[in-house]
Amino acid sequence: MTAPLIDPFARAITYLRVSVTDRCDFRCVYCMSENMTFLPKKELLTLEELDRMCSTFIGMGVEKLRITGGEPLVRKGIMTFFDTMSRHLDSGALRELTLTTNGSQLERFADDLYAAGVRRVNISLDTLDQDKFAAITRWGRLPQVLRGIDAAQRAGLRIKINAVALKGFNEPELPSITRWCAERDMDLTWIEVMPMGDLGNEDRLDQYWSLDDVRAEYARSYTVTDLAERTGGPARYVRLEETGQKIGFITPLTHNFCESCNRVRLTCTGELYMCLGQEDMADLRAPLRSHPDSDDALRTAIRDAISRKPKGHDFDYSRQRADGQMSRHMSHTGG
Ligand code: GTP
Ligand code: 5AD
Ligand code: SF4
Repeated sequence: MTAPLIDPFARAITYLRVSVTDRCDFRCVYCMSENMTFLPKKELLTLEELDRMCSTFIGMGVEKLRITGGEPLVRKGIMTFFDTMSRHLDSGALRELTLTTNGSQLERFADDLYAAGVRRVNISLDTLDQDKFAAITRWGRLPQVLRGIDAAQRAGLRIKINAVALKGFNEPELPSITRWCAERDMDLTWIEVMPMGDLGNEDRLDQYWSLDDVRAEYARSYTVTDLAERTGGPARYVRLEETGQKIGFITPLTHNFCESCNRVRLTCTGELYMCLGQEDMADLRAPLRSHPDSDDALRTAIRDAISRKPKGHDFDYSRQRADGQMSRHMSHTGG
């Protein structure tokens, strides 16, 4: 292994999130617009290029690889990629190979993912109400996702449900979603909605539900204990003492977690974003493609990029207004 990746704020970069496609079979309203234009296929890194890219990062100290999208499981041939990545688990270089998915394709892929060494998946699910599910994903079908979740559990995958906290939407479902996860022994993480994507004339301030309020809501029915444990991601966890259940909170807006950031994001076209909430990025596709026989130029470009990693994001709750949001879609950088 070469020298580890350390950024200007002495943070070691050990977590790479890789978006393998900008496409998705859903169009969650806070993530995509209804009429998305997707990238032409030739713009995407090939599966071989993705392998080379990820393997180079692993050689530079990345220990956790999370495959995202869009929806990663709609990328053609993606299981081949998981299969080839599993060699880094076997060698001990990689501690975790995992993915964040909307669950729609899990019925088909859960067993193969387990066979490739995946042990844990994060599944985005904001509501258990079929009509609300169809509305927030624009056309997703809840039963398909629930079948995917069942298949993943049968395959032996540990599941974390990610729910974006939305006032007036899933707010009334907090008790039922929490119970449902407990009954199935699944962890649950709430996420504050971030000001990304285009909203048209909508104003997201109305939907913003601070996780301080979510926590207070739990405290009305449960004894809530803070936990020190982390998964290497941004969530902070509490335990509900009455059920023993673990609940995560991802709070980019109310409690910024940038000081412990350990991650960077690679897009499906080979751009490296050093922070989800900043626009600076480095093109890694050019050094990859122009030097097919050596990874030296790629490694130099990665080190240059890491030396520019900013201290933190500049999301601000007030930017959720229709005229204030960032233009990049969450699906571009994979969340
Ligand atoms: P674990 O390994 O289970 O901790 O997963 P994770 O939280 O790292 O990954 P996941 O894909 O489930 O991310 C959940 C949410 O956290 C997504 O909405 C991400 O956009 C958000 N998130 C992850 N990392 C960051 C970050 O560095 N900054 C911000 N603002 N949000 C992040
Ligand atoms: N704010 C917060 N989370 C978001 N996600 C997508 N868009 C947003 C947003 N604007 C979440 C998804 C998924 C994860 C990858 O990112 O719900 O759980
Ligand atoms: Fe697809 Fe996930 Fe974005 Fe929803 S949040 S549109 S499931 S990528």
